[in-house]
Amino acid sequence: MNFIKAESYEALSCAAAEIIAAQIAEKKNAVLGLATGSSPLGTYACLSKMYAEERADFSEVTSVNLDEYVGLSAENEQSYRYFMNKNLFDHINIRPENTFVPNGCAEELAREAAEYDALIARLGGIDLQLLGIGLDGHIGFNEPAEFFTKETHVTELDASTIEANARFFARREDVPTKAITMGMGAIMGAKKILLIANGKKKREILEKAMYGKITPRVPASILQLHPNVTVIYSEI
Ligand code: F6R
Repeated sequence: MNFIKAESYEALSCAAAEIIAAQIAEKKNAVLGLATGSSPLGTYACLSKMYAEERADFSEVTSVNLDEYVGLSAENEQSYRYFMNKNLFDHINIRPENTFVPNGCAEELAREAAEYDALIARLGGIDLQLLGIGLDGHIGFNEPAEFFTKETHVTELDASTIEANARFFARREDVPTKAITMGMGAIMGAKKILLIANGKKKREILEKAMYGKITPRVPASILQLHPNVTVIYSEI
């Protein structure tokens, strides 16, 4: 595992963007696994800037996002599809038809989940997966549990995750309690993993995940078994 300490959120974001840009420079048609949340906002801003400066070309890139809230449509401003369009896809030259986010409004969520895994398999897996980490150690929305789940699946969000997400919603009762998330199979199947953790509040869980016992109670701890993980963290 490769650890990079960044002096600020901006430095963390640019370092992550450079790694992503290097990936697509090396393989123009790379498959990027992408995340939402606060952590990657700066990374996406840096990537958008790199595209504007002609330092990154996304024309042949495909993206697959980790997760989506159940019940939120693409038009809903709190949906992860909306987030991705607004914060990244609208600013770069990725083809919209090459961007994938699980459909949280699918009539049959189990089928949507199975099709998402089939899609990732058809794409040949993920070249580089960007991850944030939840305060309870979740990656994607693989919440602490008795076992790791391999497949894309529907999950009940933990109380602490709902609490953390509440900041984005006007009313408490609007915060979704379920999500559809990539499982550990697709995440661990990625050729490279890039985890970003910003701020003091992530320090304790990051240490537990990276140096503690490998357990589904701390979902990110499974990353200790992956051969190519880079962690960029900042403590400010
Ligand atoms: C989002 C996701 C989540 C977040 C995590 C951290 O797509 O998969 O695992 O990465 O909840 O969120 P932030 O970055 O908001 O602290």
